[in-house]
Amino acid sequence: MKRLTASLAAAATALAFAGAAHAADIKKGEELVNKGGCIACHGAGLDKPIAPNYPKLAGQYQSYLFHALQQYQAKHQTPLYGRNNAIMSGMVAQYNTQDLQDIAAYIASLKGDLYIRDEMH
Ligand code: HEC
Repeated sequence: MKRLTASLAAAATALAFAGAAHAADIKKGEELVNKGGCIACHGAGLDKPIAPNYPKLAGQYQSYLFHALQQYQAKHQTPLYGRNNAIMSGMVAQYNTQDLQDIAAYIASLKGDLYIRDEMH
């Protein structure tokens, strides 16, 4: 019984660590965005796109950003679900799911025009 308790405790610890690893990391997201060259199109602070049909990103909801980024990846594109954009599909091809979570968390933390959640915090 003692042994079972110990292995349950170990399993719980392992789960706790696994949970931590999946929390979005804003700092890592910032590094990925800087390395990824996203400002080349979405502009300084990801809030000043270089063309009117390029979207502003800063301050958008994290869940929306993650969903959008995932949809540009080929494996998430179906006839009924997904986004087919050659530029962004190329941009996100290199990232795994955790990277996309981190990137989304970082962009959502930027206080751009789309950041409207002050009153809710
Ligand atoms: C070469 C120009 C270019 C670069 C570089 C670029 N993007 Fe984009 N991005 C676009 C365009 C154009 C769209 C609109 C695509 C569409 O119509 O689906 C877009 C759309 C998006 C969207 C969806 C926004 C929304 O509101 O639905 C996100 C999120 C995004 N980009 C994030 C990024 C990130 C993160 C990077 C860097 C890793 C990046 N982009 C680099 C041109 C670019």
